[in-house]
Amino acid sequence: MSTGTSAKQAAGVAAAALVETGMRLGLGTGSTVAFFLEALAERVRSDGLEVIGVPTSEDTAQRATKLGIPVTTLEELPELDLVIDGADEVDPAFRLIKGGGGALLREKIVAACGKRIVIIVGEGKRVEKLGTTFLLPVEIVPFGAKATHAKVGAVGCQPYLRTLENGETFVTDNGNWILDCKFPYGIEDPEQLHRQLSETPGVVEVGVFLGLCHHVIEGRADGTASHHEQPATPA
Ligand code: A5P
Repeated sequence: MSTGTSAKQAAGVAAAALVETGMRLGLGTGSTVAFFLEALAERVRSDGLEVIGVPTSEDTAQRATKLGIPVTTLEELPELDLVIDGADEVDPAFRLIKGGGGALLREKIVAACGKRIVIIVGEGKRVEKLGTTFLLPVEIVPFGAKATHAKVGAVGCQPYLRTLENGETFVTDNGNWILDCKFPYGIEDPEQLHRQLSETPGVVEVGVFLGLCHHVIEGRADGTASHHEQPATPA
């Protein structure tokens, strides 16, 4: 098991310990969440925990179902007690970059329905400035993609259309495409950038998550995990 893997596992296991019986859960996407789902399934089996989850991707829906975690849709369950998800970067104000797995749109919709959002990460994802270690994913509709690409680039980044290893364009669960955007010096003003990109025709969702993280669990390679509560916003 690689160092990164055990740190993610530690975060996933720590998050499963927060779940209480009767909770309505938002189930994120990614490799860290996969560990959370395994640990949660173990608690369902051995502690008799009764929960129901809304998955943020087809991948998570399949994993949860295979593990015996009951799932439903946001239509059936529009209010969630606890959302557990991963992230690609977390800054000191708990602003996030998400979408490395391409599930940002559903992740943001589900997070917005959560009373409490817990982000689980392995080491190396807490950054001083967003966009310095990871490209920003932006989901766009295929129609007019070339024009949208140019408009997204005009905000001061280099967008790359996400492709699969075989060269085909990556398609999200929603039938859209992803631009991974490189900011040469990181993202100066995440709020302003989020506004600018959200207002760009053709952009469906932006991988900057603002005000959608209450608590961070950071796993470490030694199997321990630290908990961090959302910093108070300055008055
Ligand atoms: C999925 O689209 C992403 O937002 C993931 O939550 C994020 O990329 C973290 O993924 P890992 O847990 O695999 O690092």
